Amino acid sequence: MNISWLQCVQCNAIYDIDEIRFSCSCGHLLDAVHDLGMMKSMVSRDMFDDRLGLVDAPLSSGVWRFRELVMPEVADEAIVTKSEGNTRLYRNKKISKWTGLEKLFLKHEGENPTGSFKDRGMTVAVTKAKSLERPAVVCASTGNTSASLASYASEGGLVGIVLIPHGDVAIGKVAQALAYGAKTLMVRGDFDDCMRLIQEAEASLKAYPLNSINPFRLEGQKTIMWETLQQLHWEVPDWIVLPGGNLGNTSAFGKAFYEAKELGLIDRMPRFAVIQAAGANPFYSAFKRNFESLQTVKASTIATAIKIGNPVNYEKAVRTLRWTDGISEQVTDEEILDAKGIVDSSGIGAEPASCATIAGVQKLVANGVIKKSETVVGLLTGHILKDPDAIAKYHDREPNHRYSNPPRQINPSLDELAAILKE
Ligand code: F0G
Repeated sequence: MNISWLQCVQCNAIYDIDEIRFSCSCGHLLDAVHDLGMMKSMVSRDMFDDRLGLVDAPLSSGVWRFRELVMPEVADEAIVTKSEGNTRLYRNKKISKWTGLEKLFLKHEGENPTGSFKDRGMTVAVTKAKSLERPAVVCASTGNTSASLASYASEGGLVGIVLIPHGDVAIGKVAQALAYGAKTLMVRGDFDDCMRLIQEAEASLKAYPLNSINPFRLEGQKTIMWETLQQLHWEVPDWIVLPGGNLGNTSAFGKAFYEAKELGLIDRMPRFAVIQAAGANPFYSAFKRNFESLQTVKASTIATAIKIGNPVNYEKAVRTLRWTDGISEQVTDEEILDAKGIVDSSGIGAEPASCATIAGVQKLVANGVIKKSETVVGLLTGHILKDPDAIAKYHDREPNHRYSNPPRQINPSLDELAAILKE
């Protein structure tokens, strides 16, 4: 038996780890599974901690530091990495006070090389694409995946192709895809249309799909949680709170904690809270109906990164909530914007979808679901500069919001400057 294989989440059918397929013949999703029994004697907290601070790739990467549990059988020289990960775990008084929590940690994945958590998955999936000798990689994206794919494809010498919904992707992300040199296709439709196109074309495309239906993407994203555990000296927090769009992180993080527990790295699971925008809430709605079924929606939200009505990782995300006694909550666009006002003015800053996390924490604490004494890790997924237009609108063009900080125009006159400084 190999050390890793692909396995159906529903019927447990097994496929070779190098078979190019993203769903089982029964139609359900596939996991990349590693032989945890064998791994148990190979990995330890100390081993991962001893690698912290290494300067040479690949172990300098916050993803490849955990290589045995991500992609065990890959040679150093085959790895396409930019030492991604190693992101900060912030504590901030202003944000904590606003949410009502004492122990709130913020894992800022916007501090990755291309400004989002996607780099953690992309290093693994592009490495896989190269080992499978695929000449090109492709994705549907609300923006960050396309920026990350474009950058890693360039690094790996592959052709990058991205499908993004025309007019619905934040300017910073489009700029990255173009600048890093990906073939950028603006699809007249929404993200769900782009995703459907990729899935329909999957079998006939020579290009290797790098959306989060690709199980190797999720293997990389698991490391966000393991790195957080290291930063917390392996103390499991009470809650993990994160935004949900295509539900890749929700799926990956559940698997990360499941594996850590199986391996004896931790002794209990945290609870999960997945936050969705009220206008793009199919997972929240399904949660409210005890996950009887997924009813897709026509998505609409200012947080374009999570403007998704038909999340492809639904069944893996349901599994995460079952493993972790998890919940889902929804927040309005105005709540997201107010939370962003606080996150940004704290000096940390993040893009709108990330701030759904903070809006969600605030709501769950106010409702008594999260206790004020509990330890919470909130995920910030993307950098503040990804979506400068949302900032300009909130503070300048429509400065009628709760935390707007509109700019003021003055003449180049000392008197005017002095008058303002006196205020
Ligand atoms: N936050 C940001 C900034 C994102 O870019 C995304 C997803 C999410 C949250 C949601 O994460 O899909 O794992 O639930 N962006 C994808 C993209 C869909 O194409 O860039 P998820």
